Amino acid sequence: MEPSVVIALGLVLCISCLLLFSAWRKSHGKGQLPPGPTPFPVIGNMLQLDTKNINNSFAPLAKTYGPVFTLYFGPEPVVVLHGYKAVKEALIDHGEDFAARGSFPIIDDFNKGLGIVFSSGERWKQMRRFSLTTLRNLGMGKRSIEERVQEEAKCLVEELKKNKCFSHSLGQPYDPKFLLECAPCNIICSVIFQKRFEYHDQKILHLLEIFDENTEILNSTWIQVYNLFPSIARHLPGSHRKFLKNCQMLRDFILERVEEHQETLDPDNPRDFIDYFLIKMEQEKQNPQSEFTMENLAMMVSDLFIAGSDTTSTTLRYGLLYLLKHPEITDKIHEEIDRVIGPNKNPCMKDRNSMPYTDAVVHEIQRHIDLIPSNVPHAAKQDTQFRQYVIPKGTTVLTSLTSVLYDEKAFPNANQFDPGHFLDESGNFKKSDYFMPFSIGKRSCAGEGLARMELFLVFTTILQNFTLKPLIDPKDIDTTPISSGFGSVPPPYKLHFLPSL
Ligand code: HEM
Ligand SMILES: *[C@@H]1O[C@H](CO)[C@@H](O)[C@H](O)[C@H]1NC(C)=O
Ligand SMILES: *[C@@H]1O[C@H](CO)[C@@H](O)[C@H](O)[C@H]1NC(C)=O
Ligand SMILES: *[C@@H]1O[C@H](CO)[C@@H](O)[C@H](O)[C@H]1NC(C)=O
Repeated sequence: MEPSVVIALGLVLCISCLLLFSAWRKSHGKGQLPPGPTPFPVIGNMLQLDTKNINNSFAPLAKTYGPVFTLYFGPEPVVVLHGYKAVKEALIDHGEDFAARGSFPIIDDFNKGLGIVFSSGERWKQMRRFSLTTLRNLGMGKRSIEERVQEEAKCLVEELKKNKCFSHSLGQPYDPKFLLECAPCNIICSVIFQKRFEYHDQKILHLLEIFDENTEILNSTWIQVYNLFPSIARHLPGSHRKFLKNCQMLRDFILERVEEHQETLDPDNPRDFIDYFLIKMEQEKQNPQSEFTMENLAMMVSDLFIAGSDTTSTTLRYGLLYLLKHPEITDKIHEEIDRVIGPNKNPCMKDRNSMPYTDAVVHEIQRHIDLIPSNVPHAAKQDTQFRQYVIPKGTTVLTSLTSVLYDEKAFPNANQFDPGHFLDESGNFKKSDYFMPFSIGKRSCAGEGLARMELFLVFTTILQNFTLKPLIDPKDIDTTPISSGFGSVPPPYKLHFLPSL
C-alpha cells in the first residue's frame, strides 16, 4: 500500500473512533439512545445489514432489541421504529419532533436544503402548505387533475393498441416498463407544465433517461460509501459527478419551461403548478425573506418529478404482474368494470365508490408490494424524549412501513396477496389504519390523492380495454422483488395485451 493510503486510512479510523466516542458520550450523557447491536469502528453495523432486503435485518433485530432500536450506518446512529405502535407514536404523537428530513449527502449536495421532499423547518412548512393548496386548487380547476389523469390513461391505452403489442395469439410479447414510466411522468408534466408529451418526444425520453440513470447511480455501492463519508468522497472522482450533472440538466429543463410560463402568464387564469408559484412569487415580491424564489421553484418541480414518477410507475408495473399471477382476481375486476362502468364510458373517480372490489385490489397491491419499506428517512428536529430514550437532534429516524403493512393481526396471512384484507363479509370496502404505503402524519406523501387517482384510473382503463395474458402459467410467475432496499423493484416480465371484445 502507498504511504498516503495508509495515512488516509489511519485518519479515517481515528475520526470514526472519535465520532463513536462522542456518540457513546452522547448516549451516556444527556440521555440514552435505544439499544442495538454493537457497532464496529468506521463501518458501524453495515456488515450486519442486508441492504437488498432490509426487512431481513430489521425483523430479527426488533425481536432481539424491541420495537425501538439503534443501528450505526457507518459512524452515524440511526434509530429504527418497528411495528404499528412505535411508528404511529413517532409520526403522529411526535409528528412535530420528527418532522425534519433525514439527510442524504449526495442529494443535499444538489438540493442545498431547498424544495419540499428534502427540506426541513420553516421552508419545508411553507413549501408543503403551498403544494397541498395548489394541488387542491388544480384538482377543482377548469381542467381538473382528474381530467389530466383520464387523458393520460386514454393515451396509454391508445399507444398500447397502436404498438400492436397485442394480437390474438401471435403478437410480440410486450414489456410494459417503458410506457408505464411515461404515463406517470407525463401526468406530473401535465400538472406542472400544463401539457403532456407524446411518448416518443425527445424531451420525455431524455427526462426518463436522466431519471433511470440517476436511480441506477443512487443504487450503486459507491453512493452508499459516498453517503457514509461525504466529506472525503466529495473530493474524489466517481459517479456522483454524473448524478449532479444529470440533476443540473433536469433543473435547466425546468427553468426553460418556467421562462415560457412567465411569457404567457395570466394571473387570473393559472393553468398549472408553475403558474400558481409565479403568482405567489409576485405576491411576496416585497418580502426579502420570502421562500417563493426561483431557486425553490426549480427544486420543488424537480422534487415532484422525483417523488411522483418512479413511485407510481413501479406500483403500476408491479400491480400488473400481480394481476397476471392472479387471473381469478383480475376476472372479478373485469366483471365489476362491466357492471359499473360499462364498455363506452371513460372510468372516473366517482366510479370507485361503486367498485369496492377493484378498490380493495389496488389497496392490496400497494400493501403487498411495500414500495418504500423503511419510509423516507425522518430526523429528530431537536433532542426528543421518546419512550425511555432520548434521541439527539439531527438523528436519522427510520420507520419500518413493512412492519405495519405486514402486521399479522391487521392482515391475517399477510404474506398472501388477498384483496379480502380490504373487504368485509358483505364485500364492502374495509379501511385499515395499518394501510400506510404513503406514510402518515405531517410529512406523509403530499401527492397521495393524485397517486391514488392514477392507480385507479390507469388500472381500470387498461382492464376496460384489454385482457392480460401471461406468457407462462400464472402459478409459475414469481413476484418476489429483485431488490427491496430503499424501494421494492419487481422482476422484469412481458405479457400480451389482448383487446377486449
Ligand atoms: C404510489 C405512489 C406513491 C407512493 C407509494 C408515495 C409514497 C411516499 C412516501 C412514503 C413519502 C414519504 C413520507 C414521509 O416522509 O413520511 C412520500 C413523500 C412525498 N411524496 Fe409521495 N408517493 C407516491 C406518489 C407521489 C406522487 C404522484 C406525488 C406527486 C405530487 C408525490 C409527492 C410527494 C411529495 C412532495 C413528498 C414529500 C412530502 C414531504 O416531505 O413533506 N408522491 N411519498
Ligand atoms: C420479514 O422478516 C421476517 C424475519 O426474517 C419474516 O418472518 C417476515 O415474513 C418478513 N416479512 C416480509 C414482508 O418479508
Ligand atoms: C441495484 O444494484 C444491484 C447490484 O448492486 C442490482 O442487483 C439491482 O438490480 C439494482 N437495482 C436497480 C433497481 O437497479
Ligand atoms: C377503451 O374501451 C372503451 C370501451 O370499449 C372504448 O370506448 C374506448 O374508446 C377505448 N379506449 C381506447 C383508448 O381505445
